[in-house]
Amino acid sequence: MSVDQPLIVGNWKMYGLADSLAEACKVAHALADRPSRARVGLCPPATLIERMARALAGSVVIVGGQDNHMEEDGAFTGDISATMLADAGAKLVIIAHSERRVCYGESDALAAAKAQAAAMAGLEPIVCVGETLVERQSGRALEVVRSQVFGSLPDYLKGRPFALAYEPLWAIGTDMTPTVDEIVQTHTALRQAMVERLGEAGKRAPILYGGSVNPKNAHEILHAHEVGGALVGRASLRGEDFLAIIRAID
Ligand code: 13P
Repeated sequence: MSVDQPLIVGNWKMYGLADSLAEACKVAHALADRPSRARVGLCPPATLIERMARALAGSVVIVGGQDNHMEEDGAFTGDISATMLADAGAKLVIIAHSERRVCYGESDALAAAKAQAAAMAGLEPIVCVGETLVERQSGRALEVVRSQVFGSLPDYLKGRPFALAYEPLWAIGTDMTPTVDEIVQTHTALRQAMVERLGEAGKRAPILYGGSVNPKNAHEILHAHEVGGALVGRASLRGEDFLAIIRAID
């Protein structure tokens, strides 16, 4: 069974106002002129999801959210459910990004509950895992990410579309990246863990790399073994840079 089509997703984090939609449109127009072999997604802040979905209607670019609550609705001030994201036009959602794990103490169990809620609402969850610098330097990176895979992927994902994203915390926003050998070694271990966890379903889901991906390093990272795409932060805010990363896979 082959791995699903590669997936390249931009995570705008807490950046972007109405003007920024023009950057998303640039990407959509360029992909209409010359399609990519990857699926492409953009996850703007929640305030822009519906407007981006409208602006990109009919284009190949998929819109996503950056988080969802585990419940479908309820008295949870400030939160957004997966059903609401889908209602706003989202098709995918990032789950348990390290910024949420670190800033809000999100656990593997919460990640699994959120991923299940996302899949139940018809969204494709992108579940994030990654080690800290101390964990890598002490030789524990593989053990840490394996355990995150076991705790964060619910059974419910079997037979449903999802992706895993490997984002080493020390590579996010730092311009530091693991070596390609380290990425291959980690992605290979993640694939093994996904298969142990989900069986056949763990063989297909793409494993995205995230952390300081830019137009210069994208080609070598995206062509590495077991790298099934990228989760891109800063470089996805400028249409031109994001497009250069997407082009690097073709
Ligand atoms: P940067 O690409 O800005 O390092 O961010 C990576 C990331 O966290 C994507 O989710």
